[in-house]
Amino acid sequence: MPDYSANAEALRDLVREGEVHRDVYTDPGVFALEMERLFANTWVYVGHASQVPNQGDYYTTTIGAQPVVMVRDHTGVVRVLHNRCPHKGTKVASELCGNTGRLFRCPYHGWAFRTDGKLHSIPLKEGYAATGLENTEAAQGMTPVRHVREYREFVFAKLADGGLAFEAYFGESLSSLDNMVDRSPVGRLEVAGAVLRYMHRCNWKMLVENLTDTCHPMIAHESSAGTATRLWKQQPEGTPRHPAVEIYAPFMSPYSFYESMGIRVWPNGHGHTGVAGRVFRDDGCGLRRGTGEDDPGHQPA
Ligand code: FES
Repeated sequence: MPDYSANAEALRDLVREGEVHRDVYTDPGVFALEMERLFANTWVYVGHASQVPNQGDYYTTTIGAQPVVMVRDHTGVVRVLHNRCPHKGTKVASELCGNTGRLFRCPYHGWAFRTDGKLHSIPLKEGYAATGLENTEAAQGMTPVRHVREYREFVFAKLADGGLAFEAYFGESLSSLDNMVDRSPVGRLEVAGAVLRYMHRCNWKMLVENLTDTCHPMIAHESSAGTATRLWKQQPEGTPRHPAVEIYAPFMSPYSFYESMGIRVWPNGHGHTGVAGRVFRDDGCGLRRGTGEDDPGHQPA
């Protein structure tokens, strides 16, 4: 098995016109390179501002393999910090989310940090006298992620200085977020309720590819979507369609539905399982996807 980190030619040869080598999905060395070069230099979704509505609220996650914490600081600004104590590298915020109050406190030796990451206090500080601590990076506190952007309350971060600027990286693919947020009657979204988490024992690219793979829904989701569709058909005429049915039912649509739904591939690897039809407000069931002439492939459940 080649050492891809030391063999640029072998790395390039993994992807050819019309075929991709399986090592792209299975080789630990390729994965490590992706973490280092791809995830560090691209804009990665961190979380939604509504997950940290109050000062001191935080939400922890990772960018690639790097733990980060999204926090609303004492001035109300949403920040993304490396979730790493500058003393000896301990993860500072160990819960998935919560409110840290005015300070983060490292669980190892108790160094305390303000919610903007700056060092607040150190136990036994006199013991560091004449060590030059004040001139070290550690004295700066928890390191902020340098590149953070919020788009319609979706918070993105880029770890390294390299890579494209936010607008250049996303380009027209941001219309996917507009499409989602514009469905809200109040013009904004809120992350509510508990997180639904899936553990996928596969390479991360398999999941990304699955999002624009429309040959599988009517096969792989038949048990759930088929059940929702059958139950819906048993409802009396005129029953308002439940939003859950709105979501599930199209999964049982034929291939022609997906062929016409407006899938787009944007530059820089973005994909959008698009919406060809318009979005309009409906009668108490929330916003619905348009049907009719502008959406000829739509097959009502
Ligand atoms: S590792 Fe955080 S205070 Fe020591």
